[in-house]
Amino acid sequence: MAAKPKLFVLNKLPEAVEARFKRDYDVRLNPDDKTYTEAEIVALSQGMDGIVTSPTTAVKAAVIEGLDKSVRIIATFSVGFDHVELAAAGARGITVTNTPEVLTDATADMTMLLLLAGARRAYEGQKILRENRWIGWRPTQLIGIGCQGKRLGIYGMGRIGQAVARRAKPFGFDLHYHDQNPLPPAKTEGAIFHADVEEMLPFCDYLTIHCPLTPETRKFLNAKRIAKLPKGAVVVNTARGPVIDDEALIAALESGHVAAAGLDVFEGEPKLHPGYLGLDNAYLLPHLGSATLDTRNAMGFRALDNLDAFFKGQAPRDRVA
Ligand code: DGY
Repeated sequence: MAAKPKLFVLNKLPEAVEARFKRDYDVRLNPDDKTYTEAEIVALSQGMDGIVTSPTTAVKAAVIEGLDKSVRIIATFSVGFDHVELAAAGARGITVTNTPEVLTDATADMTMLLLLAGARRAYEGQKILRENRWIGWRPTQLIGIGCQGKRLGIYGMGRIGQAVARRAKPFGFDLHYHDQNPLPPAKTEGAIFHADVEEMLPFCDYLTIHCPLTPETRKFLNAKRIAKLPKGAVVVNTARGPVIDDEALIAALESGHVAAAGLDVFEGEPKLHPGYLGLDNAYLLPHLGSATLDTRNAMGFRALDNLDAFFKGQAPRDRVA
C-alpha cells in the first residue's frame, strides 16, 4: 500500500475534520492550537507534502521560500487567501486551494447580525443591563436606526454580497451594489448597479463590505470616501479588516458622521486598533463570520476534497494558484 501523503495542519480543526485527516493522511495536527512562528512553520514542514493553513497563520513569501521542496500544496481553511503569497507559491510550483461557497450563508447571517446590532445599539443595551444601569423602558432610550426604506450599499457582489442582498431585501432595504461588472438581476434582488463606487457612496444609509483584500481594496474606506456617505450611515465589515482605514472610521464614529459600525474583521488581527474599544457605537466581534459547526466542518471537508484530488493527481476544484 502506498504511503499516505504527509500534511502539516497549522491550526486546530473541528473534530470531524481532524478525524478525516487522521484517517486519510499521515498528519501532524495542532491539538493545542499553538500559534506557530514562521521559523517553526519552516522547520516543521520538513518532509511534508502539504500544509493546511487558515487566515490566522499567514504563509508569506519568506516562509514559502524556506519550505522544504517536498511541500507541493498549501490548502487554506478559508475562502479568503490574502494571507498566502500566491506569487511566491507559484514561483515554487506550489498549488494553493481555498474553501469557497460553504461559508457564504454563515457569513451573510453574521453580516445581518452586525448590521442590526450596530444600527439598534445592541452593545449599549447590553452594557446598561450588565452594569445594572437600566432604569426601565423609556420612550427615548437608545433610539436606533431602522431598515425599512433605507438604502443598503453592497461593496462586492460576489457570493456573500448576493447572500446579503437576499437577506436584506425582506427587511425593506432599497439595495444598491458595486462590483466590477453588473450581474444578472436574478442574482441581485433588483439592487441598483453602480459602475463607479464613488457614485454609490452617497446612496449608502448602510454600507456593507464584501470584497476580497487586494492592493486595490486595501484602505478602500478612507476619510474621503466616508465623507461621501450620508451623515448617520452604518458601516458593516465581514470581509477583511484592512479594507477599512481604521483611523478614518474611528474619527467618523466619534464625530457621528458614521452613526454605527458592525465589525467582524480587523487590520492586524488578533490585535485591533484600540480606538474601537472605547466606542459604544462600534459593535465588535472576533472574526466569527463562518463560526458555526456545520460551516466549519464543511470548510474542512472542502479543504480535504481539494487535497484528496491533488494527491490523486487530479485538479483540485478550488485551486487559486
Ligand atoms: C474566510 O474564510 O476567509 C473567513 O475570513 C474565515 O471564515
